[in-house]
Amino acid sequence: MTASRTATAVAHSNIALSKYWGKLPVEGNYPAVPSLSVTLGAMSTTTTVRFDPSLAEDTLVLNGEALGGATRPTQRASELLERVRRASGVTDFASVHSANDFPTASGLASSASGFAALALAAVTAAGLDWSLDRVADLARRSSASAARSIFGGFVALEDGVATPVAPPSALAMRVLVCVTTEAAKTTSSTDGMRHTQDASPYYAAWLQDAPKAHAQLRAALAQGDWPRLGQIAERSALAMHACAMAAGVVYMTGATLAALAEVRTMRSQGILAYATIDAGPHLKCLVREADAEQARARLAQVAGVIRVLESAPGQGARIVPGL
Ligand code: DP6
Repeated sequence: MTASRTATAVAHSNIALSKYWGKLPVEGNYPAVPSLSVTLGAMSTTTTVRFDPSLAEDTLVLNGEALGGATRPTQRASELLERVRRASGVTDFASVHSANDFPTASGLASSASGFAALALAAVTAAGLDWSLDRVADLARRSSASAARSIFGGFVALEDGVATPVAPPSALAMRVLVCVTTEAAKTTSSTDGMRHTQDASPYYAAWLQDAPKAHAQLRAALAQGDWPRLGQIAERSALAMHACAMAAGVVYMTGATLAALAEVRTMRSQGILAYATIDAGPHLKCLVREADAEQARARLAQVAGVIRVLESAPGQGARIVPGL
């Protein structure tokens, strides 16, 4: 078959409001707890996959840099491509070109947007006519948060299944990403979770509490109850980090805590801003659109905050036509 086995997809990053942390002890990379995220319109990855009979192995070019076949990113991409080859009958290796529209040197590089774009591009290039649900299942196997980036707006990930629960317009909110370092993060989420599961005295408590917080967050979202949604989101992040920290897994730095203090000061002054933090030192501030400018200016003044990126809720993953 000589049909052009190539496709380009774009997918956005996402930030969890109720956090996923920990995996079920089964094959398939299933989260141990449910989560709910907002897709970030301002941060995206564009990925082109080309199955090519002349290749002797899968290749990956990330932000213009050719990564070797033995590197972890290339291996992870190749694992996904192998699943697509098995499902489609395509036997060729593939070249993958992937680029982010946000600074990746700062450790913001997101496996979520990366694997969501790769999954959609690879499935399409292989000629598979899959539903987005099936593409999300494929993306989850590489990185669970990537399943949520297949969809836009507010997306739940429950029992390993990603489902959009509200459109981007459901809440007039902004996410302010406080960039606190240019360095890549030291402990990946996958490793951080493994240590937490093995060593945190609070992991059992996290498994009990996280589903409750998730259900409360879904209810607050359905009611459009901003302060409640923000409070639960902040609490979910702090509970996740408390659990991880008890196992020695520390992602926060002084700058993260300084930004958290500023978010809380704003709140005490009537600006309904809330914080969330993933497996890295960059605090993300959740604010209503009307407060975004003021909050952004204040966070930019915090010692250790290098710059502040702003994002509105965004769309799901899609194929870029004609490329
Ligand atoms: C803290 O999805 O990056 O961002 O499935 O091992 O690739 P793997 O982990 P990943 O973990 C995300 C953890 C988090 C919380 C969240 O996004 O829900």
